[in-house]
Amino acid sequence: MTSPADSTPDSPRAVPVPKSVLDLCTGARTITVLTGAGMSAESGVPTFRDDDTGLWARFDPAQLATPDAFEDDRALVFGWYLWRIAQLHHVQPNPGHVALARWERLADVRIVTQNVDDLHERAGSTTITHLHGSIVAMRCFLCDTPYDGPLPDPDDGDERVQPPTCAECGGPVRPGVVWFGEMLPEGAFDAAIEAVQQADVVLSVGTSGVVRPASLLPGFARSNGIPVIEINPDETAHSYDVDVAWRTTAAVGLPALVDALTAQR
Ligand code: OAD
Repeated sequence: MTSPADSTPDSPRAVPVPKSVLDLCTGARTITVLTGAGMSAESGVPTFRDDDTGLWARFDPAQLATPDAFEDDRALVFGWYLWRIAQLHHVQPNPGHVALARWERLADVRIVTQNVDDLHERAGSTTITHLHGSIVAMRCFLCDTPYDGPLPDPDDGDERVQPPTCAECGGPVRPGVVWFGEMLPEGAFDAAIEAVQQADVVLSVGTSGVVRPASLLPGFARSNGIPVIEINPDETAHSYDVDVAWRTTAAVGLPALVDALTAQR
């Protein structure tokens, strides 16, 4: 494992916004934006399923992202998550994150993210539901007590790191992410459903749409008569069931869209 180089995302090149996208967003007062790993890709955070660069192309989720994996080898799993936390220390929100925060000046923008990073928060968005938890919110593996004590320095780059222990029960501390086979954080999916139901338009940005239940949200929107715009350079599992599939990236498309909406004012 190596630490990534410091990364400051470049300004995006301007692209024309498709009329169909602009028409759906113009006048929308409540917008719900579903984001996945592609949202943070241009910040330098790897996605999961992209060929070669995706985390699951390089690492085995069964060894790193399940409760069994943590029980089998805590130091391996904890060290891997510390490495991912170290990556976040070296990246910044990209122009797509910033555009979503800027959109809040024009409308009620709610973000429902599968991402465990804090880049939406750092960009200034204020209404964010984390469906898969937060990588930095540590808690006890046994009793769930939140842990805010000291952590080993993520920048040390050690592959194996023993987790700290819980002050309440002495159990091992784990990252606050959802592992395969686990429930979502309490209330998170209800909040996501409510955000979708109340939206005038839903955007699905940078997700392959294969992990349930998050992957159900665009179809849920459409079945409630709410239009869905997909922003993704590639086809996804739900591209067939959206109103518009805009083949662009988050850091290119979102700033262009918010600039166009701002210019209409
Ligand atoms: P994936 O890695 O499955 O999909 C990333 C998506 O982002 C793909 O559709 C890419 O085409 C797209 N993409 C890549 N670069 C992009 C860019 N610059 N702009 C826009 N889109 C881009 O990631 P998720 O769908 O988020 O779960 O994965 C869902 C869940 O699977 C993750 O939350 C994680 C993983 O296992 C847990 O850890 C519980």
